[in-house]
Amino acid sequence: MKQYGSAADIKVGVVGYGPSFHIARHHLHEMKRAGMRPVAVADIDPSRLPVAKADFPEVETFPSATAMLAGSDVDLVAVCTPHNMHAPVAIECLNAGRHVVTEKPFAITTAECDAMIAAARAHDVVLSTYHNRHWDGWILNAVEKIRGGIIGDVVRIEAHSCGYRRPRDWWRSSKSISGGILYDWGAHYLEYALQLLDGAMVEVTGFMHWGHWASQVMYGDDTNEDEACAIVRFDSGQWLTLIMSNIDSTPRRGMLEVTGRRGTFVIKPDEWTATTQDAGGVVQRRGPVPHGQGWRFYQNIADHLVKGEPLVITPEYARRPIHIMDLARQSAVAGRTLPVTYG
Ligand SMILES: NC(=O)c1ccc[n+]([C@@H]2O[C@H](COP(=O)([O-])OP(=O)(O)OC[C@H]3O[C@@H](n4cnc5c(N)ncnc54)[C@H](O)[C@@H]3O)[C@@H](O)[C@H]2O)c1
Repeated sequence: MKQYGSAADIKVGVVGYGPSFHIARHHLHEMKRAGMRPVAVADIDPSRLPVAKADFPEVETFPSATAMLAGSDVDLVAVCTPHNMHAPVAIECLNAGRHVVTEKPFAITTAECDAMIAAARAHDVVLSTYHNRHWDGWILNAVEKIRGGIIGDVVRIEAHSCGYRRPRDWWRSSKSISGGILYDWGAHYLEYALQLLDGAMVEVTGFMHWGHWASQVMYGDDTNEDEACAIVRFDSGQWLTLIMSNIDSTPRRGMLEVTGRRGTFVIKPDEWTATTQDAGGVVQRRGPVPHGQGWRFYQNIADHLVKGEPLVITPEYARRPIHIMDLARQSAVAGRTLPVTYG
């Protein structure tokens, strides 16, 4: 692998400089914060290139990833395109010998993850995905308290984002572009949950309902599912349920509910609650959550490339949430539980 004397020697770029959440701008700022040097931006929408140039006058802009790879000696590329382009663009960059970070989700299918991992190994380059939310304050806090024993050993986790809402007219509502209703926040929720569950995954069951919103959203037959559910069994005896719904009006508690042998821990963006059964009866504790430390993602990438420190978000780790969502879709179609390939 190429050696770097310092983070400033690592030339970085992004593919996709979208307007929705200014996420590529955020990537370049975070990469700079970790000491790396922005040099290139590519987007197939020509109107985005002057925006990138105004934000980062030091970068060269390109009309495609292919043009960027031919015209720039960028070392590390962040792929910030819609989900269906993560794997193709990443593989093109990896095959050109560049390190790659994809935005989440890592990819849509397990096969895409396998192909990306094979390309990274073949070219001896680094591959990761932007699980910046690995360091969200609420999950850092939950991991510390739950691993510290506040609810006893974890039995199961339910992760959910439910509401009765018409999907918006944007690519996130297209199943072929987004991957489906599970793939946006589901990638984050699964990654949160996997930090709290031990053991290997054994099998996945999926349920999906489609058709309620389809006629009302611009994507018609290609509209995401109205609701989807993935249930994962672990060899530790634990299980994990993910439910994402646009047809469920029932209020839920928080983003993740973690049930342990002595009680339940509810994770919300602004507050944690632990309800336990002690000798004297029910005890409820709650508190604020600390600030997130998402900057640690690119700090880790730079430290990995410069000092050889272990990569936190490895591609094999990044494949686990994708494997769950991919198997859930296949299981829903097949109407039966499916064994995992990767635990
Ligand atoms: N980690 C987070 O917290 C977080 C937050 C927001 C978005 N995201 C992720 O960021 C990614 C991008 O989302 P967004 O909201 O910025 O989308 P967006 O639609 O605003 O931007 C996507 C950009 O990619 C460009 N593009 C599409 N195909 C391309 C290609 N083949 N080559 C070059 N450019 C191409 C488009 O022209 C557009 O400018 C998604 O994976 C999304 O899930 C992550």
